[in-house]
Amino acid sequence: MSIDLVLGPRPDEPGPPIGGLTRYPAEVEQRLAAEAATIITRYPQARSALLPLLHLAQAEDGYITSAGIAFCASQLDLTDAEVAAVATFYSMYRRTPTGEYLVGVCTNTLCAVMGGDAILNSLENELGLHAGDTTADGRITLEHIECNAACDYAPVVMVNWEFFDNQTPSTARQLIDQIRAGESPHATRGTQVCGFRDTARTLAGLAKGGESGGGAPGQATLAGLRVARELGMSAPPVSESEG
Ligand code: FES
Repeated sequence: MSIDLVLGPRPDEPGPPIGGLTRYPAEVEQRLAAEAATIITRYPQARSALLPLLHLAQAEDGYITSAGIAFCASQLDLTDAEVAAVATFYSMYRRTPTGEYLVGVCTNTLCAVMGGDAILNSLENELGLHAGDTTADGRITLEHIECNAACDYAPVVMVNWEFFDNQTPSTARQLIDQIRAGESPHATRGTQVCGFRDTARTLAGLAKGGESGGGAPGQATLAGLRVARELGMSAPPVSESEG
């Protein structure tokens, strides 16, 4: 039995419930199926490709729609309910239409202590909207995000999942001004930020989303290790039963 799932937004994510098409038109399905086949061959079991396929669907629609869920299910021999269960577990899969630039402000403990809430308030005032909303021109969606494991650079702002470290209300507003002016900002760690849908294609493993921002860890990340070495500290040996 096929069920058309209609997902609502998270409590902190106002907006219309996901609806629209419950199946892609044939030509869209065919195009996406060819790309999905490329992704699926990378995994020993087809169902392991669900996360990148959800990013592929998100690249198509800008968020996870009923049609995207049905598409992933059909490609992986899963039920719509199984796909929806995964899509609603991970916050990177959006349930409402997303702007070209998804600006996330971390308000978890360390970022909050370091000014994350002040940054979020400042951007809400600057944009004239609340977290979860999108600007009328579809350029920016603002949201607050949970810890993204960048606490050593708190407070952080993420734009389409690229890090902007050690932000202040002022630098975050400058970032917003840059995006509004039609520029694509450079993340702190070197990557040129691309649009939300292009980012989703990169996460699906399909597109070049700009050069990698990887590289060596920064000084803040290595601070604990440096102190441990200065103090002559080392990890206890691993016993055979643990090894
Ligand atoms: S608390 Fe903000 S990145 Fe960890």
